[in-house]
Amino acid sequence: MQKVNLSINYLEYDQISDLDLKDRELVIEAEKIVSTAYAPYSKYYVGAALRLENGQIITGNNQENVAYPSGICAERVAIFYASAQYPDQKIESIAITAKAGDFVIKNPVAPCGSCRQVLAEYQTKQKSPIKIILKGETGKIQVISSVDDILPFMFHAEELKK
Ligand code: THU
Repeated sequence: MQKVNLSINYLEYDQISDLDLKDRELVIEAEKIVSTAYAPYSKYYVGAALRLENGQIITGNNQENVAYPSGICAERVAIFYASAQYPDQKIESIAITAKAGDFVIKNPVAPCGSCRQVLAEYQTKQKSPIKIILKGETGKIQVISSVDDILPFMFHAEELKK
Protein backbone atom coordinates (compact mmCIF):
# COMPACT_ATOMS: atom_id res chain seq x y z
CA MET A 1 0.00 0.00 0.00
CA GLN A 2 1.22 3.48 -0.83
CA LYS A 3 -0.17 6.82 0.11
CA VAL A 4 -0.31 8.98 -3.02
CA ASN A 5 -0.53 12.74 -2.88
CA LEU A 6 -2.37 14.71 -5.52
CA SER A 7 -2.08 18.48 -5.55
CA ILE A 8 -3.22 21.28 -7.82
CA ASN A 9 -2.07 24.82 -8.41
CA TYR A 10 -4.24 27.78 -9.24
CA LEU A 11 -3.93 31.53 -9.17
CA GLU A 12 -5.92 33.70 -6.80
CA TYR A 13 -6.53 37.40 -7.44
CA ASP A 14 -7.93 40.01 -5.07
CA GLN A 15 -9.81 41.98 -7.66
CA ILE A 16 -10.90 41.89 -11.27
CA SER A 17 -8.49 44.72 -12.19
CA ASP A 18 -5.58 42.38 -11.37
CA LEU A 19 -6.58 39.95 -14.14
CA ASP A 20 -5.09 40.22 -17.59
CA LEU A 21 -7.19 42.08 -20.13
CA LYS A 22 -8.70 39.01 -21.88
CA ASP A 23 -9.70 37.36 -18.60
CA ARG A 24 -11.13 40.61 -17.27
CA GLU A 25 -13.21 41.02 -20.41
CA LEU A 26 -14.54 37.47 -20.02
CA VAL A 27 -15.52 38.02 -16.38
CA ILE A 28 -17.34 41.23 -17.33
CA GLU A 29 -19.30 39.33 -20.01
CA ALA A 30 -20.17 36.59 -17.49
CA GLU A 31 -21.38 39.24 -15.05
CA LYS A 32 -23.54 40.87 -17.72
CA ILE A 33 -25.36 37.68 -18.70
CA VAL A 34 -26.27 36.94 -15.06
CA SER A 35 -29.07 39.47 -15.36
CA THR A 36 -31.06 37.36 -17.86
CA ALA A 37 -30.67 34.01 -16.08
CA TYR A 38 -33.99 32.22 -15.63
CA ALA A 39 -33.78 30.99 -12.06
CA PRO A 40 -37.18 31.58 -10.39
CA TYR A 41 -36.82 28.50 -8.16
CA SER A 42 -33.32 28.81 -6.70
CA LYS A 43 -32.98 32.59 -7.18
CA TYR A 44 -29.32 31.83 -7.81
CA TYR A 45 -28.44 33.54 -11.06
CA VAL A 46 -25.34 32.24 -12.83
CA GLY A 47 -23.49 33.64 -15.84
CA ALA A 48 -20.80 31.97 -17.93
CA ALA A 49 -18.74 33.46 -20.75
CA LEU A 50 -16.32 31.50 -22.87
CA ARG A 51 -13.70 32.64 -25.34
CA LEU A 52 -13.17 30.72 -28.56
CA GLU A 53 -9.78 30.59 -30.25
CA ASN A 54 -11.02 33.03 -32.90
CA GLY A 55 -11.61 35.56 -30.11
CA GLN A 56 -15.39 35.31 -30.15
CA ILE A 57 -17.10 35.32 -26.76
CA ILE A 58 -20.15 33.11 -26.16
CA THR A 59 -22.28 33.59 -23.06
CA GLY A 60 -24.91 31.56 -21.26
CA ASN A 61 -26.88 31.55 -18.03
CA ASN A 62 -28.80 29.00 -15.99
CA GLN A 63 -32.25 28.01 -17.21
CA GLU A 64 -34.44 26.41 -14.57
CA ASN A 65 -37.63 24.41 -14.88
CA VAL A 66 -40.52 23.59 -12.58
CA ALA A 67 -39.48 19.97 -13.11
CA TYR A 68 -36.15 20.74 -11.45
CA PRO A 69 -33.87 18.22 -13.21
CA SER A 70 -34.95 19.61 -16.58
CA GLY A 71 -33.10 22.84 -15.87
CA ILE A 72 -29.50 23.37 -16.94
CA CYS A 73 -26.46 25.28 -15.68
CA ALA A 74 -25.04 28.42 -17.24
CA GLU A 75 -21.78 26.71 -18.21
CA ARG A 76 -23.52 24.02 -20.26
CA VAL A 77 -25.79 26.54 -21.99
CA ALA A 78 -22.69 28.43 -23.18
CA ILE A 79 -20.60 25.34 -24.00
CA PHE A 80 -23.34 23.52 -25.92
CA TYR A 81 -24.21 26.63 -27.89
CA ALA A 82 -20.54 27.14 -28.76
CA SER A 83 -20.18 23.53 -29.83
CA ALA A 84 -23.37 23.66 -31.90
CA GLN A 85 -22.49 26.88 -33.69
CA TYR A 86 -18.69 26.63 -33.89
CA PRO A 87 -17.86 22.92 -33.65
CA ASP A 88 -14.29 23.38 -34.87
CA GLN A 89 -13.38 26.27 -32.61
CA LYS A 90 -11.37 25.43 -29.51
CA ILE A 91 -12.50 26.89 -26.19
CA GLU A 92 -9.63 28.86 -24.65
CA SER A 93 -11.21 29.90 -21.40
CA ILE A 94 -14.47 30.19 -19.48
CA ALA A 95 -15.46 32.63 -16.73
CA ILE A 96 -18.24 31.82 -14.26
CA THR A 97 -19.95 34.09 -11.77
CA ALA A 98 -23.31 34.41 -10.03
CA LYS A 99 -25.65 36.63 -8.05
CA ALA A 100 -28.16 35.49 -5.47
CA GLY A 101 -31.60 36.92 -4.78
CA ASP A 102 -31.17 37.53 -1.06
CA PHE A 103 -27.52 37.20 -0.03
CA VAL A 104 -24.09 38.19 -1.26
CA ILE A 105 -21.97 35.43 -2.83
CA LYS A 106 -18.60 35.89 -1.17
CA ASN A 107 -16.81 32.86 -2.61
CA PRO A 108 -15.89 32.00 -6.20
CA VAL A 109 -18.66 30.07 -7.95
CA ALA A 110 -17.39 26.60 -8.82
CA PRO A 111 -18.94 24.49 -11.59
CA CYS A 112 -21.01 21.46 -10.59
CA GLY A 113 -19.84 17.92 -11.33
CA SER A 114 -21.90 17.60 -14.52
CA CYS A 115 -20.44 20.84 -15.91
CA ARG A 116 -16.92 19.67 -15.03
CA GLN A 117 -17.56 16.46 -16.96
CA VAL A 118 -18.86 18.45 -19.94
CA LEU A 119 -15.83 20.76 -19.81
CA ALA A 120 -13.63 17.65 -19.69
CA GLU A 121 -15.29 16.28 -22.83
CA TYR A 122 -14.53 19.37 -24.90
CA GLN A 123 -11.05 19.78 -23.48
CA THR A 124 -10.25 16.17 -24.45
CA LYS A 125 -11.82 16.68 -27.90
CA GLN A 126 -9.82 19.82 -28.64
CA LYS A 127 -6.58 18.48 -27.13
CA SER A 128 -5.76 21.75 -25.42
CA PRO A 129 -6.52 23.01 -21.93
CA ILE A 130 -9.50 25.17 -21.05
CA LYS A 131 -8.72 27.88 -18.51
CA ILE A 132 -11.40 28.37 -15.86
CA ILE A 133 -11.99 31.69 -14.09
CA LEU A 134 -14.24 31.64 -11.01
CA LYS A 135 -15.73 34.64 -9.27
CA GLY A 136 -18.40 35.36 -6.67
CA GLU A 137 -19.96 38.77 -6.17
CA THR A 138 -17.19 39.75 -3.78
CA GLY A 139 -14.02 38.00 -2.64
CA LYS A 140 -11.15 36.41 -4.49
CA ILE A 141 -11.06 35.37 -8.12
CA GLN A 142 -9.57 31.96 -8.87
CA VAL A 143 -7.92 31.10 -12.17
CA ILE A 144 -7.36 27.41 -12.91
CA SER A 145 -5.32 26.54 -15.97
CA SER A 146 -6.96 23.26 -16.97
CA VAL A 147 -10.04 21.09 -16.38
CA ASP A 148 -7.62 18.39 -15.17
CA ASP A 149 -7.20 20.41 -11.99
CA ILE A 150 -10.89 20.55 -11.12
CA LEU A 151 -11.72 17.01 -12.20
CA PRO A 152 -8.96 14.65 -11.17
CA PHE A 153 -9.58 11.00 -12.03
CA MET A 154 -11.80 12.11 -14.88
CA PHE A 155 -13.51 9.49 -17.03
CA HIS A 156 -11.72 9.38 -20.40
CA ALA A 157 -12.97 8.06 -23.74
CA GLU A 158 -10.06 5.59 -23.77
CA GLU A 159 -11.82 3.81 -20.94
CA LEU A 160 -14.54 2.75 -23.38
CA LYS A 161 -12.01 0.91 -25.51
CA LYS A 162 -10.93 -2.69 -24.97
N1 THU B 1 -25.79 26.53 -11.38
C1 THU B 1 -25.13 26.91 -12.50
O1 THU B 1 -25.72 27.40 -13.46
N2 THU B 1 -23.79 26.74 -12.53
C2 THU B 1 -23.05 26.35 -11.46
O2 THU B 1 -21.83 26.28 -11.57
C3 THU B 1 -23.69 26.03 -10.19
C4 THU B 1 -25.16 25.91 -10.25
C5 THU B 1 -27.24 26.75 -11.33
C6 THU B 1 -28.10 25.53 -11.38
C7 THU B 1 -29.36 26.05 -10.70
O3 THU B 1 -30.14 26.74 -11.66
C8 THU B 1 -28.85 27.06 -9.69
O4 THU B 1 -27.55 27.42 -10.13
C9 THU B 1 -28.81 26.57 -8.26
O5 THU B 1 -28.13 25.37 -8.18
